[in-house]
Amino acid sequence: MCHSDYGIEMATFWDLLYKDRTIDIPFYVELAKESSPPVLELGCGTGRVLIPIAKEGVNIIGCDNSPNMLCVAQDKADALSPSIREKIRLIESDMRNINLGERFGLIVMAFNSFSYLLTLVEQKNALEKVFDHLQKGGRFVFDILNPEQGRYTDRHSGTASFLKLSGREWKNPNTGNRVVEWFSRSYNLADQVMHEIQIWEEAAIDNTSLKRYYRDRRQRYFFRYEVEHLLENIGFALEAVYGDFSCGPVTPTSTQFVFVARKRS
Ligand SMILES: C[S@@+](CC[C@H](N)C(=O)[O-])C[C@H]1O[C@@H](n2cnc3c(N)ncnc32)[C@H](O)[C@@H]1O
Repeated sequence: MCHSDYGIEMATFWDLLYKDRTIDIPFYVELAKESSPPVLELGCGTGRVLIPIAKEGVNIIGCDNSPNMLCVAQDKADALSPSIREKIRLIESDMRNINLGERFGLIVMAFNSFSYLLTLVEQKNALEKVFDHLQKGGRFVFDILNPEQGRYTDRHSGTASFLKLSGREWKNPNTGNRVVEWFSRSYNLADQVMHEIQIWEEAAIDNTSLKRYYRDRRQRYFFRYEVEHLLENIGFALEAVYGDFSCGPVTPTSTQFVFVARKRS
């Protein structure tokens, strides 16, 4: 039995689980190409977004506080041609107290990484670090889920906390065994925090359970205007809030918010 958040199991499975999530990549790649290098990605994980940016010839630094996720990113970088690999620097650091002594034209935080900042103090600490690491006129761009669509909409349901199958199944690349996902969620509606327990059950060919991995995580969900106020409080000028990665407006059915904030010149 293993317990993890972004531990070794999540790092092993991440690229498999999110291989179809490509919708955000052209958006972040285009931003990176039009910004003055280098780019910084906070919460870069396995390099799902970072590597396509480097492949476009942009120098990028990836920071994450999970050594397991970074290890996968490093292996992927090492498999690239030397001219691309040299564009990538990976750093293990917590975005709440990062100090690189460098300033960037663009800082990104892709795919809901911001939601791991649970409290106002953590959010402010991280945003102040982002602000300090930006050049004047530099942009901070990140996406988070709209709490009114998708994942967090079960927060008012009495049955959210029941353990259920998620419907996702995959093969453990190390063992070839089938992995089945169970999950339950509970919410602290006062703190806007979701607590999710995921159980990944590895099953043998005859369906007997071989191993279970437990993943226990908390995420903060945000409403649009609290984030706008937060950014403006730190000193950012809000350039845009999109409802998708094609720069469309936020609508009642948008599944995410994409914030583009600028450090005033
Ligand atoms: C939802 S994943 C997104 C990974 C990657 N950006 C992507 O799009 O595939 C969130 C990432 O943020 C990282 N993370 C969470 N809290 C962090 C913190 N305080 N400092 C740095 N990284 C953090 C996790 O380790 C994880 O890799």
